[in-house]
Amino acid sequence: MHIQNNVQLQPFNTLNLGSVASHYIKIETEHMLLEALSYAEQQQLNVLILSGGSNMLLPEHIHALVIHMDIQGIETLNEDAQTKTLAVGAGQVWHDFVLWTTEQHLYGLQNLALIPGLVGASPVQNIGAYGVEVGEFIQAVRVYDRVTQQFTEILASDCQFAYRHSIFKDQPERYVITQVIFQLLKHANLKLSYGDLKQAVGEDLSAENLQNQVIQIRQSKLPDPKEYPNAGSFFKNPVISAQSFDQINTKFPQLPHYPQANGQIKIAAGWLIDQAGWKGKRLGMVGMFAKQALVLVNYEDATLLDVQATYRAVQQDVLNKFNIRLEPEPVLFNAVGLIQSHVE
Ligand code: EPU
Repeated sequence: MHIQNNVQLQPFNTLNLGSVASHYIKIETEHMLLEALSYAEQQQLNVLILSGGSNMLLPEHIHALVIHMDIQGIETLNEDAQTKTLAVGAGQVWHDFVLWTTEQHLYGLQNLALIPGLVGASPVQNIGAYGVEVGEFIQAVRVYDRVTQQFTEILASDCQFAYRHSIFKDQPERYVITQVIFQLLKHANLKLSYGDLKQAVGEDLSAENLQNQVIQIRQSKLPDPKEYPNAGSFFKNPVISAQSFDQINTKFPQLPHYPQANGQIKIAAGWLIDQAGWKGKRLGMVGMFAKQALVLVNYEDATLLDVQATYRAVQQDVLNKFNIRLEPEPVLFNAVGLIQSHVE
């Protein structure tokens, strides 16, 4: 087992925040994971699981064992006339996996093309885009349960998948995801209901074209993390009661909104931020992107404190104007590697 000390995590988080980990190990197998966890226990270190780093806010120094997940592999578990079931290693790159499924004529994930990050993180916040959430195509998630100290598979029906939410968000210290088991379709059933996706797709109703259109829409609005370090949507779209929505809507009839199955209304945080004057605006080294106000960008060499100063200013301005408190999407870690609440 090769534990490294004082490792710079800047290249491993898409916001490019400078962050030095006291202890770090990359793991490629479940056996290595067990060894790393027992080392952390012996040394009395907390454990921070690092995946693609696309949804994390890291402090400048972390005294903990950072376990960088690099379990690869795609294995067919099952196949019938309609579906194919695949077990995919947590360390596979999400977008490459989506492209591969399309090449294999397996359908369902095309709307989720170009989302940054790794397969193992996809169930955590139930990644979603253009009318599809990954939970719809997950059969089970293989985890190491740190409470029972066993590997186990959690069925999708027990994962509590909801908008940007799952059981893994509620109990982040308990489960380490090692594989995700997907059930994909052999016959395409394209989902074109979101925004102007149908128009973009036009007459070519192939899954390849749908995937390409999603990629084009994302590239036209969302900054490439290599050029403009970012963590995707920085805030969740607020989901509010129909009553609260009616109050806001009378004052702001243009507010984009999406009724949910349970009667609540999801509203567009990007629009709120835009209207609060933050689209393309910076505070020091950190600002909200000019083509999509929901994306926070680290334009220079910001630290977590700089990021916090900007997003708290955005939250405050949106609160003042709309009386809505935006909730950040990325997970915030403290100096000993534990997840922190965003509320001060
Ligand atoms: N809008 C503005 N100004 C802006 C940004 C958006 O007025 O600066 C308006 C748009 O005109 C549109 C509405 O807000 O009417 C919604 O915008 P968009 O379709 O771009 O989607 P979003 O709600 O901002 C969500 C997800 C994205 C996902 C897209 C497409 C969340 C927090 N974000 O964004 O997910 O790609 O829908 O499904 O749910 C991510 O999570 O990292 C992410 C990029």
